Amino acid sequence: MRKSVVGVVGLTAVVVLTLGACGGDDDGGDGGSASTAAKPAGKVGVILPDSASSARWETADRKYLSEAFAAAGVEFDIQNAQNDKAKFQTIAEGMLSAGVKVLLIANLDNESGSTVIQKATDVGVPVIDYDRLTLGGGAKYYVSFDNVMVGTKIGEGLVGCMQANGDESGPVVLLNGSPDDNNATLFRQGYEKVLKDAGYSFVADQAVKGWDNTEAKTVFEQIFTKTKGKFVGVASANDGLGGSVVSVLDQNGLAGKVPVSGQDATDEGLQRVLLGTQCVTVYKAIKKEADAAAELAIALIKGDVAAADALASGKAADTTLNTEVPSVLLEPAGIGKAEVKDVIADGYTTVDKVCTTAELKKACAANGIG
Ligand code: BGC
Repeated sequence: MRKSVVGVVGLTAVVVLTLGACGGDDDGGDGGSASTAAKPAGKVGVILPDSASSARWETADRKYLSEAFAAAGVEFDIQNAQNDKAKFQTIAEGMLSAGVKVLLIANLDNESGSTVIQKATDVGVPVIDYDRLTLGGGAKYYVSFDNVMVGTKIGEGLVGCMQANGDESGPVVLLNGSPDDNNATLFRQGYEKVLKDAGYSFVADQAVKGWDNTEAKTVFEQIFTKTKGKFVGVASANDGLGGSVVSVLDQNGLAGKVPVSGQDATDEGLQRVLLGTQCVTVYKAIKKEADAAAELAIALIKGDVAAADALASGKAADTTLNTEVPSVLLEPAGIGKAEVKDVIADGYTTVDKVCTTAELKKACAANGIG
């Protein structure tokens, strides 16, 4: 059985991988043996950041990365640092001493990420920054989405909803992702520009450390009190933060009245979009991201730098080192009510997971789902 791993926006190369026996397992297990000659010899280590800031890391990234490595017969070890920088280091050290050939990291911040990249580099292990670029880190490659474009999609969705409310201008709240996450800076760049260009002003502009959803609720409650709820929309940087915003709006009888954004196309986010309490989410096809990262890692295991360079034909700016990191940057999609069905059609979630209640079943039917 053969499987082509394709569909990466901006890539022309098509890599055909041979589906073999399961090549690994996760969370500290020793990967299965990659014994046949066709299988690349060497294990890949993956460190995910946490499981609370977004459902994606455990439900999508772990799943799709595991599937991609297993399909290629490559051994792998995927672990989650659970938002603990010390744990992030310990996991990395363990993987390096276990002899991984490539390390994929989604950092918790630039400093701890850079330390890990340095340690790996010292022992000749290339690091791929996965989803989050480690500023100042010097990773060999970066695989992610066009994160300014993610912000642009957030902004465009929000502007559409505010205009539909008759608010062609007015004060908007910005609830940004973690100041430690370069992606949060890029997302903000995207939505700030769209909102400004469309004629909106900013009544609050705050970051939420660690993308912490509970903290987001407190921060937004304070903003709500300070502004007396006088704003026409809320740009919140992911579905977790969006959920916190909607819960506060709900307590104030404003859920569904003030447009709120999100990102990640989580089940909860999609449900709120269908119910009208969230205006937009952004779908990032994590399968493509995982497939691209796996292709790159496999090229590196094989020592085929030319193939890796051909895959990473994009560039991302490391604004600390003033360098450009060879990258695979995929395209995100803005998701309003009418597009929820596309996320389901892409296999990212299911009708059963989204259309769970009577109210949601009705909204699903009205939007061509199920
Ligand atoms: C990711 C988002 C995610 C956020 C919180 C960002 O770096 O790109 O998809 O929602 O981190 O985990």
